[in-house]
Amino acid sequence: MDALTARLNRVGVPTLSIPCDMLVFGGTGDLALHKLLPALYHLHRAGRLHRDMRIIALARSAHSRTAFQALAERHCRAQVARADFDMQTWQGFADRLDYFAMDASQSADFGRLARHLGAAPERVRIHYLATAPDLFEDIAAYLHTAGLAGDNARIVLEKPIGHSLESAQAINAAIGAVFDESRVFRIDHYLGKETVQNLMALRFANALFEPIWRAGHIDHVQISVCESLGVENRGAYYEKAGAMRDMVQNHLLQLLCLVAMEAPVRFDAESVRNEKVKILEALKPISGLDVRDKTVRGQYSAGRIGGHDVPAYYFEKNVDNDSDTETFVAVQAEIDNWRWAGVPFYLRTGKRLAKKTSEILIQFKPVPHQLFGEGEANRLLIRLQPEERISLQLMSKSPGKGMHLQPVELDLNLADAFHKQRRWDAYERLLLDVIEGDSTLFMRRDEVEAAWRWVDPILQGWHQHYQSPRPYPAGSNGPEQLQHLLERHGRQWME
Ligand code: BG6
Repeated sequence: MDALTARLNRVGVPTLSIPCDMLVFGGTGDLALHKLLPALYHLHRAGRLHRDMRIIALARSAHSRTAFQALAERHCRAQVARADFDMQTWQGFADRLDYFAMDASQSADFGRLARHLGAAPERVRIHYLATAPDLFEDIAAYLHTAGLAGDNARIVLEKPIGHSLESAQAINAAIGAVFDESRVFRIDHYLGKETVQNLMALRFANALFEPIWRAGHIDHVQISVCESLGVENRGAYYEKAGAMRDMVQNHLLQLLCLVAMEAPVRFDAESVRNEKVKILEALKPISGLDVRDKTVRGQYSAGRIGGHDVPAYYFEKNVDNDSDTETFVAVQAEIDNWRWAGVPFYLRTGKRLAKKTSEILIQFKPVPHQLFGEGEANRLLIRLQPEERISLQLMSKSPGKGMHLQPVELDLNLADAFHKQRRWDAYERLLLDVIEGDSTLFMRRDEVEAAWRWVDPILQGWHQHYQSPRPYPAGSNGPEQLQHLLERHGRQWME
């Protein structure tokens, strides 16, 4: 047991008072093996899981329970820091693991599953759908028929929910016919990231920023989520999604909401989500020819990253040779409301870029009168990755004679500030929230649909106006056209 766990136990942090079963559909997939199981291992190690909680992986391959435990161990060892992995803890965790081979597209298999689980009306059943979204509707219906969707059952859906507004509405309706909204957890793992939640603390627990957090003082906002990885072995999924559906529709719009929303009345699920929906609904539509001016689409060509040659996107596994899928998107978004009218929010995300960084830049306006003849406007940088950092750039006088100014950083490195506490992975926090039934950090049905309502016309505009993705070399900062999006307004991307 680590120091954090000991402390949590001492202060009496509540652990689940009733046992639950977590059923992971897609139980041998990337998400389950790389993220969910390691996160659950950490929760187990921290003593946050009920002693009788079971985790049942469901997938088509015919693994035995022991073979699955061995597979899970291999992945957890690779994902968990060496200091946090020990055999005694692992054994305890492995005892919770079970495996059941089934085909989630076959209704009869759900009857077999129900018999395997046995009747246990007091148990909370959590169905985690780590599968492609086209299975969501069937799974919900089959769970219902098999009697696995009673009042004690919850369902967790991974993004993207559908591939358009229409498909998202169909999924939401099918899920809603079986589970009421309070039992549906639509996960966006960005909301589980420590710094993302810190953004709310920064805005709503400090008096300093609120008066200037508005159009009168902010020139523009940049939200960048850049990755150096390519599509790895997710080519088949990515071909249908592209960066717009994979990242912008969810992660980037969620970040935008947290930057732009009004202070909720309370920090509870409904109040927070009400404020986020208002922002999504206030997004100015981008449609038709607007897509030429307000968006940039890109696709990586061959290049070098970290000293290695990497192939073009269309040579990746399970990707079409003449693929038209974007691996990069930049958008100039605007929010038509009192606080933000006229302030552009520039969003960008892409794969195979020079570095992995996720950050939000709030660029303030310059002082009204340049007393010293020089100087830059203040800016606040909120970095989510690779390190968690918040820094405020201020102007200061450089030493010596004369009033020469230079920017200095007021820096808060969160990892250092809280160095004694292990940083939780986003999935640990979110899985615990599902277990405890707290949906504050999950997307509500209307939120997901409002996001699609803004994204759909952009996708259609690209299609109608033949906006093929512009090539950019892997290892670069994106297509050339990216710069024009800001330069024509006299602005620059932060590099
Ligand atoms: C996922 C996307 O939701 O987020 C991936 O499907 C992407 O394509 C990933 O790589 C990025 O998450 P993170 O936490 O590594 O920034």
